[in-house]
Amino acid sequence: MDRSEAVPSPRHFRPLPPWAQGPATIALHGAQRPERNAGAVVPPIYQTSTFRFPGPYSELGIEGPPYLYTRHDNPTQEVAAETVRLLEGGESARVYGSGMGAISAALLGLLSPGEELVAMENLYGGTVGLCSGLLRRLGIAVRWVSPHEEAEPELVLSDRTRVVFLESPSNPLLQVHDIAQWAAAADARGALTIVDNTLATPVNQHPIELGADVVVHSGTKYLGGHSDLMAGALVAPRSIMDRIHATDIGLGSVLDPFAAFLLARGMKTLPLRVERQNRSAAWLVEQLVAIPEVERVWYPGRASPEEEALAARQMGGRSGVLAFVLRGGLAAARRTLARLECVHVASSFGGVESLVSLPEETSHVGLSEAERRECGMPSGMLRLSVGLEEPEVLLSDLRQAIGSG
Ligand SMILES: Cc1ncc(COP(=O)(O)O)c(C=O)c1O
Repeated sequence: MDRSEAVPSPRHFRPLPPWAQGPATIALHGAQRPERNAGAVVPPIYQTSTFRFPGPYSELGIEGPPYLYTRHDNPTQEVAAETVRLLEGGESARVYGSGMGAISAALLGLLSPGEELVAMENLYGGTVGLCSGLLRRLGIAVRWVSPHEEAEPELVLSDRTRVVFLESPSNPLLQVHDIAQWAAAADARGALTIVDNTLATPVNQHPIELGADVVVHSGTKYLGGHSDLMAGALVAPRSIMDRIHATDIGLGSVLDPFAAFLLARGMKTLPLRVERQNRSAAWLVEQLVAIPEVERVWYPGRASPEEEALAARQMGGRSGVLAFVLRGGLAAARRTLARLECVHVASSFGGVESLVSLPEETSHVGLSEAERRECGMPSGMLRLSVGLEEPEVLLSDLRQAIGSG
């Protein structure tokens, strides 16, 4: 029997059919191969750690068996990875056990002792911790970029720079970085640019089109979208992915097949969810700025006319996440959290239900007060991830919790 027929393998996905034009259709149909899976409309979960070879390994030729071991590869992981790849418009993709699993695989796979990483100061706190802890211990230099150095990447990069890492919009300040400008400057130095596209999602932004080499995601957030899994994803050119894969096999930051199934399932509604969350968040921003107790609101493009122009240039929709600070500072923020009824007080973002958190006590607890001040995050700043509830319900919950009118 021809083994390629006996083992339904979604490894070699068909090219995108000409009718699969928009993100919604791609998210639903891009990685599906029902003809390989008994006609199943939903790809099955290959809940297996290992795969039977068609014969002795030594007789399988240089290609080896279709699948070897789930830490290396698994058909269910591939369905999720292929969907992310198509949505981001890259050459190859892999999925991981968490966003940090993907980020650590990329940084450890692409950097060696003596080389330099250039990273924006306002990255997710876990990424900051990885860079200033493990990477430094391994002899990798980390050059942090402050907002006032933003405009001139050429002055920041050096001959030792091998990787530039940025997150745009950033978490939780929603700052928009010029991806094309950083990618061009990195390229001129022979360095790679990695963009964390978790907050933007491929619905709102395509870093690869803007010149980035690698895109990373915490799939735990919008890609999965239901606050029910941990996952990460990377999209990169094949040659770069091979370097990362050689490292991630050793790190073991693999995505379990069941979580891969949930991730693939979640992404089917990604465009629908993100479009609605963008709309609701933009509306809530307008409502919040009119509330007297609210001192300031952060949202991509709001910081200045220049940032607005940049956001309009490099993004489609803006974000389902916003941040705000109350005039009463930290005490007022804590009072508000205690009174919220519909909005969950929880870390993370990108789920179907609205979540609010105090980054200084959650995602950015690892930063000192001085570090938080340096990157422009005032004490008491609240990050709101807008879910799929009616925005009027969210506004009324926020109003009563803030104690406004
Ligand atoms: C922007 C960003 N990147 C990466 C991560 C890490 O992802 P995970 O928690 O899935 O490891 C997070 C987590 O909050 C994040 O906000």
